[in-house]
Parts: sequence; C-alpha cells; structure tokens
Amino acid sequence: MWTGRFSQATADLVLKYGESISYDWKLYKHDIAGSIAHARAQLKAGMLTPEEFAAIESGLKSILADIEAGNFEWSIKLEDVHMNIESELTRRIGAPGAKLHTARSRNDQVATDTRLYCRAEIDSTLALLEDMQRALVAKAEEYAEVRIPGYTHLQRAQPVTIGHHLLAYVEMLGRDVTRLQDCRRRLNISPLGSGAIAGSTINLDRVGIAEELGFDAVSENSMDAIADRDYIMETLFCLSVIGTHLSRMSEDLVLWSSAEFGFCTLSDAHTTGSSLMPQKKNPDVSELTRGKSGRLYGNLVSVMVAVKGLPLTYNRDLQEDKEPLFDSFETIALALRVNAEMVAAMRINEDKCAAAVSDPLLLATDLADYLVRKGVPFRHAHELVGKAVAVAVGSATPLNQLTLEQFRAISPEYGEDVHAVFNLDRAFELRTNPGAPNPANTARRIAYWKSLLS
Ligand code: ARG
Repeated sequence: MWTGRFSQATADLVLKYGESISYDWKLYKHDIAGSIAHARAQLKAGMLTPEEFAAIESGLKSILADIEAGNFEWSIKLEDVHMNIESELTRRIGAPGAKLHTARSRNDQVATDTRLYCRAEIDSTLALLEDMQRALVAKAEEYAEVRIPGYTHLQRAQPVTIGHHLLAYVEMLGRDVTRLQDCRRRLNISPLGSGAIAGSTINLDRVGIAEELGFDAVSENSMDAIADRDYIMETLFCLSVIGTHLSRMSEDLVLWSSAEFGFCTLSDAHTTGSSLMPQKKNPDVSELTRGKSGRLYGNLVSVMVAVKGLPLTYNRDLQEDKEPLFDSFETIALALRVNAEMVAAMRINEDKCAAAVSDPLLLATDLADYLVRKGVPFRHAHELVGKAVAVAVGSATPLNQLTLEQFRAISPEYGEDVHAVFNLDRAFELRTNPGAPNPANTARRIAYWKSLLS
C-alpha cells in the first residue's frame, strides 16, 4: 500500500507486532458501509462514473457476503481491516478499486468504523439491559412483599422486601440505559472527510456521507476527529458502571444463596458443583460476574492511559483502543444474558426470609420514631432505645419481649402501646414516602417499570 517510498519489505516481526487484523476484522460491516457512502459521495462529485461506482458497491457487497459466510481470508501483511478490504476490492474489480481511497485516510476511516461499531453495540447492549431489568422486575413482582432484613455494613439494619431490594437494581440499570443513550447521542458524529489530519483538497459531501451512515452531524474539527477517543472512554465507562451494578447484585446473590442466609436458591442449571466435595452447589455465575468487573475497569484505564500523552493527532498507539473496547462489549453482553436467565430461574425461600426478618432489633429505629411521636427529641429517643437494646442484649431477651415495666424503668415516655411497634405490617405501612419500601410504593414502581419495559 505504500511501496513507492520504500526499498525494503516490512520485517516479519514488524508485521506481527503491528497487525490488528486478528481483532479489528470485527469492524468489517462498518468499514464496508463507510466505504460505500464514501464512494457514493465521489460519484456525486463526478469523480467516479456510475459504472465505476456500481463496480465498487457490488464488489464491496460481495466481500461482505463472503466475510459473513466465513469465506474471506484475512492477511496480516495487509495489517488491518481497512487495507484488507480495500486491497481485495481492487483485486476483484481492478481499476475503480484504486480510486476508492481518494480524500480519505485510514485515520478518519478507523474513527468512523469505531463510532459505528459503538453505536451498534450500544443498541444491542440497551436491549440486553432491558431484558435484565425485565427479569428483575418479574422476580420483584413474584416476591414483592417477602420481607427480609436490609443491611448496612452487612449488619442487620431495617426491614425491607425482596421486591424493594430487587427494584433497587432495576433503578440502577435504568440509569445505565439513559447513560448509554446519552453517550450514543454524543458519539454519533461523522469524522469522515477529516482525512489523515487536515481534511482534503478534494471536498466530498461530508453531510451526505454522514446522512447515509445514520450520523446526526459531521465533526467540526479534523484534528479533534482524528485524535480523540473520548467516545471510546465514555463507552467503556458506561460499561464499567453496568459491570459495577451487576457485580454488587452478584455479591448479594452469593450471600443470599449461602446456608448462612438461605434467602434464595439458584437453579442447578446456573450453578456448578465441586470436583471434590459432593455436597457443593456454587454460585459461579455471580462470582464470575463480580470478577469480570475488574477487566471492564482495566479496559477503561488501558484506553485512558494509551491516549493521555499523545501529541495531536493520530499516533499508532491509538490502535490499542480496539481490543479493550471489543472485550468490554462482549463481556457485558454475556454477563447480562446469563444473569437475566439466572435471576429468572431463582427461587426465594420465604421461610428463611421470614425467620431472618423476625429479629425485633430491626425495628429499633421504629421504636425511636415511636418516642419521637410522643414528643421526645430524636437524639434523646435514640439514647432511650439504645438503653433498651442494652437491657435486651444483656439479658438475652428479644427486644420486643422486654416487659412494659422494663421499658418504663428506662423512661416513662414508653407507653402501654410500645409493643405494637414490633408489628412488621405497621412498620411497612408507616413508610409512605416515595422511595420507601411500602407495599403501595413497590406496586407502583413495578407497574411503572412493566409499562416502560413492555
Ligand atoms: N489500524 C489502525 C488503527 O487501528 C488504523 C489507522 C492506521 N493509520 C495509520 N496512519 N497507520 O488505528
């Protein structure tokens, strides 16, 4: 492709070191779409005859068909996806193929291809995110009012429900959806026409090309368009956040499926056994999801570090953006699919949940609120309940089984109705504010998500 200036062939090790075709072949569909749009602009500018354009278009389409049928041989001598396709085109159609690269560089080509790739992969990730949300909403609805302890510091805190807990993840994934949509809007800009760095003396219709490729606009600065990879970093960040959310859900499921918690049972199909211990049923899917969040962050950091010290504009370092990008999309896609399936097959053990949530200490804060309603300032109420907890713990008596006299000995503010505080129905009914785990709130939110996701 550049024999003119060179008198030696590229060394084998340099070919091996520099090739990207072993992974960037994944851009072929976008590369071909970009080339057809570019050729059409050359046709409109009178730089290709209709016959030449037709030859280019059908040549590229036949290459596309061969790639999709698995009948295309990629060559590392041709370095990357752009040169592999262009050189094969010329081999197939002859002279018109050699005109295709007019007013274009691999620099604007690769920026175009990766934007189109991100856009397409974001669209499929969005669909998978919604599938994951649907699985969680269905499970939240099935066990909406099954009560469990909520935890802070992994210590029992206050009662919540399975419905409320699972919906927390639905909310997080909902923000992941809008974050990706926002990222998609920002990256859907056409760099084609930026050339290697400074545009071209041959002015093709950039807007027409952008429209054909479904871009919302054209980039406004050729150097920016060639050099920046912020759209890749932003995409990788969005994927990292999804990974974080899935990882935290995984940690909950690892705990819930343990004998110690026993809140849920994962299906045999979504767990694995031990080669040594016959009784084991391990939550490997959750552990792998937790573990894979590490590589999602690693991919983000790789690209940020690769880009940060580069002088404008294109530097070959930028070729290092693709493997992390591909890996993150592939990792997230599989994680979303397998977790949606696993959540759908998960059973909640209502007896275990009921036993855990019967701990009256979960309502210690409600007891303080009870005193507040009697006019005790909250800080003082906190102290009075703390004392009651100390008596209960000290005498190995459940808090709700302290006698009225024992409560009164701590403070006369405790009234005859004190034991009513330990009624869980009451505890949930009182929490009427939006966002609290009140049954009506949970039902409302389930209905909201079901209609949004339908
Ligand atoms: N394979 C290259 C990349 O991924 C394409 C652009 C190459 N441009 C160049 N001037 N060497 O970045």
